[in-house]
Amino acid sequence: MSNSFRFFLVLFLGGRCGALVSAAPAGRDVGRLYMETCSGCHGADMRGGKAPSLLGREWKHGGDDAALERSIREGYPESGMPAFRETLNPAEVHGLIALMRETGTRTTDPLGALADGLPLEPQRSEEHAYRFETVVEGLEVPWSFVFLPDGRILVTERAGRLRVIEGGRLAPEPVRGTPPVVARQESGLMAVAVDPDYARNGWVYLTFSDPGPQGSSMNKIVRGRLRDGAWIDQQTVFALDPTQYPRSYVLYGGRLVFQGEYLFFGIGERGMEEGTTGKAQDLRSPFGKIHRVYRDGRIPADNPFGRTRDAWPSIWAVGVRNPQGLTIDRATGNLWETEHGPRGGDELNHIRVGRNYGWPLITYGINYDGTPVSDRTAAPGLEQPVINWTPSIAVSAIEFYDGDRFPRWRGQLFVGSLAQQKLLRVVLEGDRVVHREELFRGLGRIRDIKTAPDGSLYVAFERVGKPGRLVRLVAVKEQRRKD
Ligand code: HEC
Repeated sequence: MSNSFRFFLVLFLGGRCGALVSAAPAGRDVGRLYMETCSGCHGADMRGGKAPSLLGREWKHGGDDAALERSIREGYPESGMPAFRETLNPAEVHGLIALMRETGTRTTDPLGALADGLPLEPQRSEEHAYRFETVVEGLEVPWSFVFLPDGRILVTERAGRLRVIEGGRLAPEPVRGTPPVVARQESGLMAVAVDPDYARNGWVYLTFSDPGPQGSSMNKIVRGRLRDGAWIDQQTVFALDPTQYPRSYVLYGGRLVFQGEYLFFGIGERGMEEGTTGKAQDLRSPFGKIHRVYRDGRIPADNPFGRTRDAWPSIWAVGVRNPQGLTIDRATGNLWETEHGPRGGDELNHIRVGRNYGWPLITYGINYDGTPVSDRTAAPGLEQPVINWTPSIAVSAIEFYDGDRFPRWRGQLFVGSLAQQKLLRVVLEGDRVVHREELFRGLGRIRDIKTAPDGSLYVAFERVGKPGRLVRLVAVKEQRRKD
C-alpha cells in the first residue's frame, strides 16, 4: 500500500518561503502499532521481555534517530528482531521513535514531588553559585511580568488580573479596568510589556484572549496607561474582526517583544482539529505566525509579505505552532522563539525575516492521539530548529541574561519548561548550541524569566494545586576557584 501523503504546494513569487500546503494524516496510531507489533517482544511498558528494553538506557545498535530507524526498518533477523520496512511507513517509524523517547523519559526521569519551600542553602552550578529568594507568593498562574523604571513590577495572572508589586509587596487589589478575558484552558491574560519610551509616554501593553461571539476567542493586543490603580487611555494595537475568532481555547502564543520602533509578537495555530488546522502555512491567515508592527499597531511598509497578494500584512515569519517564548538577544539584535510541538517536537528557533519554520510540514513530534503529523523532519526551504526537544519539555519563556551579577552567564540563553519544571542554561555560538546546563527542576512550571535591573534573574512559577510565585536567583559570593 502506498503512502497517502498529499502536499499541495503553491510557491509564491519572490520565493522566500510562501508555501501553502496541507498534509494529510501520514499513518496509523503509533501507540496502538506499538502494542500490536512490538509489545509482544519488548514488553507493554517497553521495559523488555523476550527482547531488550527500549527505554534507552543503553542501545546496542545506537540510539540516535538514524540508528533507531535502521534497527526498526532493517531488523536483526539473525537475533530475532524482524525487519519492518515493508509494513511500517517512514512516518510510522518516526512516530515509534518519538514514542520510545517519550516513554523512556517518563520512566527514567519521573518528576520528583513538588518542593514546597524553596531550597534555602546556596545552589552550586557550573559557572555561578546563587540562592533563591521569594519576591512574592500567592499569584494565580503568573504568565508574565515586567519591570517599570520606577522599581515597580507588573505581573499578569492568567485568570485576567494585572497585579502590581511595589516595594517588594504585592498590592492586594489588581489594576481596575483592564479588559475582560476568556479564561479557559490556555486562554486568559497573557503578556505584559512596557514601551521602550515608557518613562516619557507611559504605555503598557497587554496580550489577552478577547471574548468573541458564541464562545469564540482570539489574541488581542492593547496598550493603555496606569493611573491611581486603574487602566486608562486604552488603544488597540492588534485585533481581528470578532467574526474571525475561532472556537478554541488553545495555541495562542502571545509574547510581546520590542525592538526600536517595532513590536514583535507570536500567534499560535489557534486550534487542532484533526491534529492541525493547516493555517500556519496559509499566508492569508495570521495564525501560526510571528508578526511585526509599529508600536501603535501600524504595519511597516517593508514587511516581507507586504506585496504578496492576500497575505496578512503583519506577518514576519511563517510556520510556527504555539510560540510560548519570544525574545531579542540584546547583544546581537537577533529574534528567538520557542514553541510547543504536539507530542515531541518542541523547538528553539532563530527567527529570520520571511523564513518558514515548517509546522506542520516538518516536525519531530507526533499527534496527541499517537498518529504521525508528517513523515519528514527536514525539507528544503524550511528552517530547522536550533534545539528540538523530543519528548516535549513544554518549553516556555526564554531570556538572554544581560545583567552584571552573574558575569559568566552574560549573553547566554535561559529556557523555562512547564511540564518538566526546569530552568536550562544554553550557550550558543551563532545558531549552534555548544553547551547546556539544567540549573534546577521541580520548583514549579516556569512561565516567565527576566533579567532584573539589579542583575538578579527573576523567574515566575505556576504551581499545580498551589499558588504561584515570583522568585529571584541572587548571586552568592563565591570561594576563590583554585586555578
Ligand atoms: C519477534 C520479537 C520482536 C518484535 C516483534 C520486535 N522486536 Fe525489536 N528486537 C527484538 C530483539 C530480539 C532485539 C535484539 C536484537 C539484537 O540485539 O541484535 C530487538 C532490537 C530492537 C531494537 C534495537 C535495540 C538496541 O539496543 O539497539 C529496536 C530499536 C527495536 N528492536 C525496536 C522494535 C520496534 C519499534 C518494534 C515494533 C515495530 C520491534 N522492535 C518489534 C525482537 C523483536
